[in-house]
Amino acid sequence: MSETVTVQAPANIAVIKYWGARDLQHAVPANPSISMTLSSCVSTTSVRIRDAGADEILLGDGGVLRPAEGSFRDRIAAHLQTLRDCLGRHERFVVATRNSFPAAAGMASSASGFAALTVAVSEALGLRLDTERLSELARLSGSGSAARSVMGGWVEWPAASSGERFAAMQLASAEHWTLCDVIAIVQQAPKDVSSLDGHRRAATSPHFERRLTVLPARLAGVRQAIAHRDLAALGEILEQDAIELHLVAMSSRPPIYYWAPATLAVMQTVRNLRVAGRPAFYTMDAGANVHVLCAPADEDAVAQALLATPGVVELVRDRTGSGPRRLETSLFDEAIGHG
Ligand code: PMV
Repeated sequence: MSETVTVQAPANIAVIKYWGARDLQHAVPANPSISMTLSSCVSTTSVRIRDAGADEILLGDGGVLRPAEGSFRDRIAAHLQTLRDCLGRHERFVVATRNSFPAAAGMASSASGFAALTVAVSEALGLRLDTERLSELARLSGSGSAARSVMGGWVEWPAASSGERFAAMQLASAEHWTLCDVIAIVQQAPKDVSSLDGHRRAATSPHFERRLTVLPARLAGVRQAIAHRDLAALGEILEQDAIELHLVAMSSRPPIYYWAPATLAVMQTVRNLRVAGRPAFYTMDAGANVHVLCAPADEDAVAQALLATPGVVELVRDRTGSGPRRLETSLFDEAIGHG
């Protein structure tokens, strides 16, 4: 039996969003994106090579491993095949995966899940790939944002034309600038429209092309804000870009409405916090939940204000993290009744 490799990889929150693709099938984004890698919202994935048979995909759930089902299983199976094709390998795998944050909390788990799977498979095969290569492979999962989750700190994923080698790159480490991300959960059900469908529809919005023309200045502003640890400058741009993602989504055909009434209530709380002298800034991915970025010194006050906002059902507190890491304990060892 081969060695089991277990990798924990984090989710990330984009401050300049990837929204729309030039070539969705090959995960070629329409625009560059920049994100902050998180540390507590993680996926843990154990992989070992099978002696014989087909891929086996298991989902860790409360100390038990169950066979994965439906589109969740299909996407993992497809990515295993993509990895084999790209790496010229033929091995089959047993994979077990688990998220630290409930998928039902409506938070994106595909970036962390596919980053963990990509790193774990490459290590199980004994490959020592650099993070750029891992990023390129992770992006082929169909979750482009997974390309950013193989690195820690502040990460930019450039847009390049199909066929070129392109991968995310680290702009700054977590040590350079650590911010808190207090996530206000206002909707626990999974979203109605996947980000994949959102990317597909984006170009039908009259606001899509215009956003692309203003992005170079926005990206430059974010790079500079990160270099100078300038939260006010970063915050202004990240709010603009979050609103524009949703403007594009709401004006796509057919339109996509990700927000819930409480999304707007949280945005108002954050503006009130700023008036009261607490710098905090909101951003939303393709969902209703609100990520509020602030300095560690303001985290408790921000959390208190968010919890007091009607419609907020739960808070997840996270902060800048340093990327995937290998774990000693595997999900196979932890699980009851699976050898
Ligand atoms: O990685 P995908 O294909 O699920 O797309 C991510 C889309 C957003 O989360 C809304 C934005 C981003 O850049 O993370």
